[in-house]
This record gives sequence, C-alpha cells and structure tokens, in this order.
Amino acid sequence: MSEPLVLGIESSCDETGVAITRGHELLVDAVASSVDEHARFGGIIPEIASRAHLEAMIPTLSRALETADVDLSALDAIAVTAGPGLVGPLTVGVSAAKALAIATGKPLYGVNHVIGHAAVDQLVHGDFPDRFLALVVSGGHSSMLLVDDIATGVHELGSTLDDAAGEAFDKVGRLLGLPYPGGPHIDRLARAGDPQAIRFPRGLTAAKDQDKHAYDFSFSGLKTAVARWVEACEAEGREVPVADVAASFAESVADVLTAKVIAAAHRNGVNTVVIGGGFSANSQLRDKAAQRCAEAGIELRIPPIRYCTDNGSMIAALGMSMVKAGVAPSTLDFGVDSSMPLEITHV
Ligand code: KG4
Ligand code: ZN
Repeated sequence: MSEPLVLGIESSCDETGVAITRGHELLVDAVASSVDEHARFGGIIPEIASRAHLEAMIPTLSRALETADVDLSALDAIAVTAGPGLVGPLTVGVSAAKALAIATGKPLYGVNHVIGHAAVDQLVHGDFPDRFLALVVSGGHSSMLLVDDIATGVHELGSTLDDAAGEAFDKVGRLLGLPYPGGPHIDRLARAGDPQAIRFPRGLTAAKDQDKHAYDFSFSGLKTAVARWVEACEAEGREVPVADVAASFAESVADVLTAKVIAAAHRNGVNTVVIGGGFSANSQLRDKAAQRCAEAGIELRIPPIRYCTDNGSMIAALGMSMVKAGVAPSTLDFGVDSSMPLEITHV
C-alpha cells in the first residue's frame, strides 16, 4: 500500500478537530473550538461542549474534506478519540466516526487521546526511534510514557498524583486574577519576571520520593505554596510582584518536569524525548527542556504549538501508526472511556 490516507476525529474536550493525513503529510487540520463559550464559567462545561461538538462536527468534516479535496471513498482508515476525556463530547465524535465507518465500509480505530499527543510528532519530525520517552502535558494530563511502538507498545511510567501542569497554571492564574485559561497569561507575565525571586517547592523531588514516585508529579502543593505566599504578601499590605510570582512558579514546574524526564531517560537508556500536549506551548518548559536535553545529549522533539493543542491531526497520526503496524480495527460496538488507561493505545 502507498502511504495510508487517514481521517482523524477529535472531540474529547472543547475542540472539534477533523484532520486528514497521508503518511506523515498533514493535508488538512480543521478545528472548531467552544473555548469562548466556557470562559465566563472559568472551566469547561461538558453539556455546552457536547452541544458545540454536535453543531460543529458535520461542518468541520465537510470543510476538511473540501479543503484537502479528498472523497470519503479514498480513505484507508478512520480514527477517532475513544478516551480519555469528557463522556458527552467523546460520544459525539465516536458516533460521527461510527456513522462514517458504516456508511463507507472503512476500518475504524478508536484511539487514546493522550497517546495521540505524542503520536502527532511524527508528522513534524518523522519516524520515531525504536524506543523513546514521551512527556504529555496538558490541562488534564501530566504523564511520562516509555514508548517502544506508538501503536502497540506504550508503558506508563508515571503521572501526576493531583493537578496536571496546565491545571496548576490555570488555578494559579485564577488566584492572580488572570482570565481563564490562565496558563498562557502566566507564561507571558513570567517572561518579565525573575524566576529566582521566590524559591517555591519542587513536588516529589526529595530523595525519599525516588523509590515510589521517581516518575510521578505533584503540583498541588506548589499551587498552595503560591497561594500562601500571595496571601502573606497581601496581609502585609505589600503589592504582589505578579511577574516574579509567575516566573518563580513557572520555573518550579519546568524544573520538575525536565529534571524528571531526563532522569527517566538516563534510567531507561533512551536518548530521545518527545514532549506534547497543550501545556507544551509553555515557553519556560520549552526553554528549560531545550537547555537540559542539549546538556544531557538527548534529542528533544517538540512539535510546533499548533500540533500540541487538541486537534484531529494527533488522532489521524495515531490512526496512521495503527494502519502501518497492521493493527486490527476496532469493532463497531466500542464505547467511550472517560478514564482510558494510558497503556491502551486503541480499543
Ligand atoms: O491539551 P490542551 O489544549 O487541553 C487539554 O487537554 O487540557 O491543554 C490546555 C492547557 C490549559 O491548562 C492551558 O492553560 C495550558 O494548556 N496552556 C499553557 C500555555 N498554553 C496552554 N500553560 C502555560 N503556558 C502556556 N503557554
Ligand atoms: Zn489534549
């Protein structure tokens, strides 16, 4: 077979994404977002997201097919996010994908969203090496994966025990009075601040944590430490140095993520690290990862930001890997799995 033509559908959170890939080539990546509809609630409202997916799905699909000038009959496979994510939103995407699969007779793969965040890097940097580490960081996840084969061999080394990195940024953003989602605002403020101004804690990095939690993360203690520091500052009637707080907080998160992933790479004998997920847009993380990987002689692969946020291309890329690995398609009776384990690449 020539390079497989794959349609990818993503609807696990607030982005309706439809993309078409031919091998590593991204032909189109159409996205409709309901993020603005959630802003005034300070978080994603699943019912609003579901309804937005329902309204956006067919127009986004039509736009993708038209832009890429692809007919459904030409597809080799369809891939859709089966989990993890919000049940209602996932159900809209899976229902649409099943309808397409039935109407066209094309094989359907229900795939793992988090693994898609790593898989998408193939579209940018080409084939993966035989073994690599993937750090997937988003508003919902902070996970470290050891990958032997992105389609069939993904092992979860560790995850956050509480807040995800993006979630911690959004919560600190709220306490600093920034609009939702706070992550990008903190990033921007942090660039003007001194990252060494305040020494905030580094979760799960103490010697005693290295036995059980070498690969895990914890950001809720850090978030509380920032809250206490800001409260103390206000109680003393001092103006909160917002840029320094943002920079010192971002420094702690970037320090922990990169130190742990490099230690994990050494321990597992791998020399490639892939970083993905919406939080990998964070400039403090990108800078520190680039610096530390270069020092450690590790190849760092981070796709450009447009591939890191939720979109259909990550799902098409993982579907492409399934086709190439000869994985059997999903049977059409699969359901969505809001807490799909990270060892399960497809259903
Ligand atoms: O992957 P994503 O688009 O959605 C989820 O699956 O969660 O990630 C969104 C998360 C949000 O928490 C957002 O605040 C955070 O990523 N984020 C950032 C930046 N851009 C997005 N956090 C820090 N710095 C950024 N530049
Ligand atoms: Zn995501």
